[in-house]
Amino acid sequence: MFANACLVLPVAFPIAAAATISLAAKAACAAIAAEGIETLTSWADWLNEEYITAQSHYWSAANADLIPACVVFPTNAYDVSAVVTALLNEPCVSFAVKSGGHNPNVGYSSVDGGVLISMSNISSTVLSEDQKIAEIGTGSRWLEAAQALEPYNLTVVSGRLGDVGVGGLTLGGGLSFLSTQYGLACDNVVNYEVVLADASIINANATSNPDLFWALKGGGNQFGIVTTFTMKTHPIGKVWGGLRFYSGEYAETILNATHDFNTNFKDPKAALIVTGDITIESLVELFAVFFFYDGETPPPGIFDTFNALPALIDNAKVQTYSELLNGDDNANLYGLRYLIRGTTLPNLPGTTGQSLYNGHYAQWKEYVMTQGVLNPGFIFSIAFQPMPYLIPAQSVAAGGNALGMTPESGDHMWMEYDISWLTSLADDTAHSMSMNITATVEEWAKTNFAGILPSHYKGPTDHAGLENAEYTAIFMNDAMYDQLPLQSYDNNGYARLTAIQRAVDPDGFFSTRTGGFKLGV
Ligand SMILES: Cc1cc2nc3c(=O)[nH]c(=O)nc-3n(C[C@H](O)[C@H](O)[C@H](O)COP(=O)(O)OP(=O)(O)OC[C@H]3O[C@@H](n4cnc5c(N)ncnc54)[C@H](O)[C@@H]3O)c2cc1C
Ligand SMILES: *[C@@H]1O[C@H](CO)[C@@H](O)[C@H](O)[C@H]1NC(C)=O
Ligand SMILES: *[C@@H]1O[C@H](CO)[C@@H](O)[C@H](O)[C@H]1NC(C)=O
Ligand SMILES: *[C@@H]1O[C@H](CO)[C@@H](O)[C@H](O)[C@H]1NC(C)=O
Ligand SMILES: *[C@@H]1O[C@H](CO)[C@@H](O)[C@H](O)[C@H]1NC(C)=O
Ligand SMILES: *[C@@H]1O[C@H](CO)[C@@H](O)[C@H](O)[C@H]1NC(C)=O
Repeated sequence: MFANACLVLPVAFPIAAAATISLAAKAACAAIAAEGIETLTSWADWLNEEYITAQSHYWSAANADLIPACVVFPTNAYDVSAVVTALLNEPCVSFAVKSGGHNPNVGYSSVDGGVLISMSNISSTVLSEDQKIAEIGTGSRWLEAAQALEPYNLTVVSGRLGDVGVGGLTLGGGLSFLSTQYGLACDNVVNYEVVLADASIINANATSNPDLFWALKGGGNQFGIVTTFTMKTHPIGKVWGGLRFYSGEYAETILNATHDFNTNFKDPKAALIVTGDITIESLVELFAVFFFYDGETPPPGIFDTFNALPALIDNAKVQTYSELLNGDDNANLYGLRYLIRGTTLPNLPGTTGQSLYNGHYAQWKEYVMTQGVLNPGFIFSIAFQPMPYLIPAQSVAAGGNALGMTPESGDHMWMEYDISWLTSLADDTAHSMSMNITATVEEWAKTNFAGILPSHYKGPTDHAGLENAEYTAIFMNDAMYDQLPLQSYDNNGYARLTAIQRAVDPDGFFSTRTGGFKLGV
């Protein structure tokens, strides 16, 4: 189908480190260097701090096993265009685009033997004169963007941990503490500066390339290389929140309160992430809860149940937004190998919904305590991320995005399951455990709660129910490489995305030469 028959699709996992670098890859690197773009190689620059950071500083250390032919550091869209031109001239060379390096899927922002395009030098935040929008370089981390805007008492709809990258999070949709007020991160983008597969530099916005504009709102990395995101700004002052740890003995109280928070969403300024964690070494079961309120004092009635429980560690306090993002990074450990897997659960009403969450947690815990215990060094976690109908309502009001969620489909919970471990010897086990955990808990939920509609559901009854595959989107930012988030997008989103991908990338530059969640497979 594609002109370059030389390529084997990058395999997501496992990948052995490249022993040799092809002549074609060396030629591509040399051509990029000849354009005056900073180009570093493992054989020449392996002591260079910039090289080491780009090649090895990934949230999941498994990505650092891959050795690129070179790392290139474009500083603007023209440089990125020159990199794409060099790659077009060497059709057998694979590549990867890296922004914050937080995606754990090996081969998405890392590449073995190909060209690694590090966006770390495209990282400025520039506020417009009227202060209504800010241009944010893709290689920026959310902490940097938040710090740059804070002197103006402004912020953007950002990630919830400061260290995560702007590029990957926004292309995957982007869930923020501010989403119940302003939608997903992507809903706040008014312009994408993009380098396309033919090396042209274009703007995608509501009036120029509107199809691509829509596709980039949650459609991922198969459409182009985004250099700058122009985002709406929002006022921000001091906020309340931070991370608290609770003993696992309060699991049921915490999960019931999380259900209540999601069902009876009282205040769009409030947000929560509730994670249960079990460390196999100690078998200690903990809950780490991230609190957020956009204001200094959360009104009574929002976090009362949580506040009444004794916390083991309590970092929740009044602080600036950037301080909060920075503090949340305490949950952001480097040096381990990680997998993340996502599912979406309906938030069922009343005691049924509480039973679903408690039972789901019990199933997960049962798996960890019977299968997980066989693996010393493993850490398992399960996250409950509220997705009340208010968030899709904001998305729709902002013009809609590729995920296609609607407020009529009611309240949901974006579930995230993490495993971390220490060495590549345990990779296969971790991968099969991650799949098995979700298979077990999803099956249980589907069997026991079939046909019950979520709270705030207002859609057609034949489109709902846990047994229904089209129930609602799987969140790409929490998805594992074998999952199909794009295929899960509602309202014909997948077919439309596939058509747009083929139109902007007819020769398969992205679809055959770089990793990521694929369309049309
Ligand atoms: C500790 C932690 C906290 C997280 N918190 C949140 C959260 O609050 N909200 C949320 O929504 N998600 C969150 N995530 C998930 C996160 O959004 C995804 O892992 C995301 O892919 C990371 O983006 P990145 O730029 O850091 O990663 P990278 O690994 O650099 O990139 C991720 C993917 O995007 C592609 N990409 C990156 N930049 C570009 C670009 N400019 N053009 C084209 N393609 C590009 C890469 O090729 C890769 O496929 C979190 C993840 C972690 C590990
Ligand atoms: C890229 O950024 C690094 C680190 O900030 C800096 O040392 C380097 O000079 C930059 N390179 C270019 C070409 O601007
Ligand atoms: C930001 O808010 C603080 C506190 O309200 C105020 O003192 C300061 O003047 C504001 N700064 C700007 C630039 O508006
Ligand atoms: C949309 O793109 C056009 C063409 O590049 C540009 O002139 C216009 O300023 C862009 N609009 C926004 C909102 O950035
Ligand atoms: C949690 O909710 C379930 C189901 O409604 C109920 O049976 C249980 O008593 C509740 N537990 C606590 C601790 O609130
Ligand atoms: C996962 O499930 C499969 C099929 O039931 C089983 O063969 C495999 O051993 C399981 N793996 C783990 C690590 O539990």
